[in-house]
Amino acid sequence: MSTPTIDEHSSALDEAEQGTSHLITVTLRIRRFNPEVAAEADWVDYQLPIDPKERVLDALHKVKWEIDGTLTFRRSCAHGVCGSDAMRINGKNRLACKTLIKDINPEKPITVEPIKGLTVLKDLVVDMEPFFQAYRDVMPFLITKGNEPTRERLQSAADRERFDDTTKCILCAACTSSCPVFWNDGQYFGPAAIVNAHRFIFDSRDEGGEQRLEILNDKDGVWRCRTTFNCTDACPRGIEVTKAIQEVKRALITRRF
Ligand code: SF4
Ligand code: FES
Repeated sequence: MSTPTIDEHSSALDEAEQGTSHLITVTLRIRRFNPEVAAEADWVDYQLPIDPKERVLDALHKVKWEIDGTLTFRRSCAHGVCGSDAMRINGKNRLACKTLIKDINPEKPITVEPIKGLTVLKDLVVDMEPFFQAYRDVMPFLITKGNEPTRERLQSAADRERFDDTTKCILCAACTSSCPVFWNDGQYFGPAAIVNAHRFIFDSRDEGGEQRLEILNDKDGVWRCRTTFNCTDACPRGIEVTKAIQEVKRALITRRF
């Protein structure tokens, strides 16, 4: 296992320039994979100075920009909104942009690897297509019948509250890729697709609930859920994912939603 480091001299200069004497040295242990170079993934350690109040995403940027430009990962907003940087950090699914170094025991090597259950394309980048296909399959858009209304579709505050939690999803896949059922069988729709079905099934303005319930009644639908709560634990938006899945199951039985 190689251990590249940022040049000590330039780090010291940076420190002096920025007045960052509170930097600590951390080891980022990253699961690297490049199918053009090797058939197997391998762990590579990177040592770097960092402010413990910075995030794992900042550490990954330092590695990419200052040590090894070939490191590949997704990110966009860097502020917990776009959902593109879900990864396994110290064995737990998290957003790199919302995980502070100081909160994950920087005295030990910090492991960073791709989320599980989806094919790894390179380093921390996985093929998200099966995840998004399941999302598309539940028809995550408002379905209405009849003529277009001449005024806005009204909804009471209580009706809006019914699906408020599931509107918060940012499609990061942290839930689905922490689910043991999904690991064993990628055909399972997975928690995120069910969360997004829930968002419309329980919307009083929507008229596609029955259709969505039938889709989720499939052998790869909600009944595959084993209520392990991994999804709820993993969700960076604090969505009660397991509860939403239970509500969809109940709606399937009672046909009331
Ligand atoms: S429910 Fe939470 S963990 Fe799952 S995709 Fe949405 S935001 Fe991510
Ligand atoms: S980079 Fe957008 S959520 Fe982390």
